[in-house]
Amino acid sequence: MEFVTLNNGVKMPVLGYGTFQTPPKSTAENLEMALNAGYRSIDTAQAYGNEAGVGQALKQSGLAREQVFITSKTSTDGYAKTKQGIDMSLNRLGSDHFDLLIIHWPTPNSLDSYRALEDALAAGKTRAIGVSNFNAKDLELLINNSHIVPAVDQIETHLYWQQTKMRAYLQQHNIVHEAWAPLAESLGAEMMQLPEVKALASKYGVSSAQVLLRFLTQQQIVAIPKSMNPAHVASNFDIFGFSLTSEEIDSLTKFDRHRSIKDWPTNMRENAY
Ligand SMILES: NC(=O)c1ccc[n+]([C@@H]2O[C@H](COP(=O)([O-])OP(=O)(O)OC[C@H]3O[C@@H](n4cnc5c(N)ncnc54)[C@H](OP(=O)(O)O)[C@@H]3O)[C@@H](O)[C@H]2O)c1
Repeated sequence: MEFVTLNNGVKMPVLGYGTFQTPPKSTAENLEMALNAGYRSIDTAQAYGNEAGVGQALKQSGLAREQVFITSKTSTDGYAKTKQGIDMSLNRLGSDHFDLLIIHWPTPNSLDSYRALEDALAAGKTRAIGVSNFNAKDLELLINNSHIVPAVDQIETHLYWQQTKMRAYLQQHNIVHEAWAPLAESLGAEMMQLPEVKALASKYGVSSAQVLLRFLTQQQIVAIPKSMNPAHVASNFDIFGFSLTSEEIDSLTKFDRHRSIKDWPTNMRENAY
């Protein structure tokens, strides 16, 4: 595993496992497969309704809490609701802390919600805090009006939307860039058939998905692919045995369409900030 170092020194695996739309009932079973494949970073969210399944899987795995990096996302607006929501999330997880807590998307009172995350950090309820789906303007508001610079911004990022504009801002502020939908969800199949991607896969004896994940992780972009297919779960994790050259990485930048696969959320459109 390779790691990125967050702005407070905490190390985060550059590859994790996503749980969007993983049904609460099958989450524990699904995560057992991911943990057995070697994943040690799990991305969940209050909105996914599966934090309890993540906790159950962790317990059943026999792994120590500190061996697995767990991220969750708050979806409440304002200080009091967010503070209470974090405690409820911890209760569902069955742990006294998260490794990373992020605000799922900007809300009218993001600044107040963020204060609850800052308090959770101070109280040891999480090891790091950050945001998701925040554009540069949304981040500017937090940075200018709070004490702690977010450690991470989790935003849609893949070959078709490389987020070069946001990336420059994040690098400038030492905020880790995390990719949601690193395989572009429903557009993934099309991306995996691109002749340039297939040629690289054939050169390195790997799959197109592995090339696409390596393309991100070699640029220090944290990727959290999701799969329900055991073969995909295993191969998505097995990406550290080869490296693309910098010329190959550059050659893939031409596929950037500079837009979301589903135009969500609209604040992230490149002309919105
Ligand atoms: N912060 C946010 O607002 C936000 C939004 C969306 C997602 N997320 C997070 O990011 C995670 C990943 O995003 P995502 O789940 O939306 O999309 P994704 O990981 O880009 O794509 C998932 C799709 O790719 C397929 N796939 C995975 N590995 C494959 C492989 N090796 N070969 C072929 N197909 C493959 C999966 O099908 P199979 O099951 O058949 O493999 C599934 O249909 C989420 O689970 C969630 O944790 C966050």
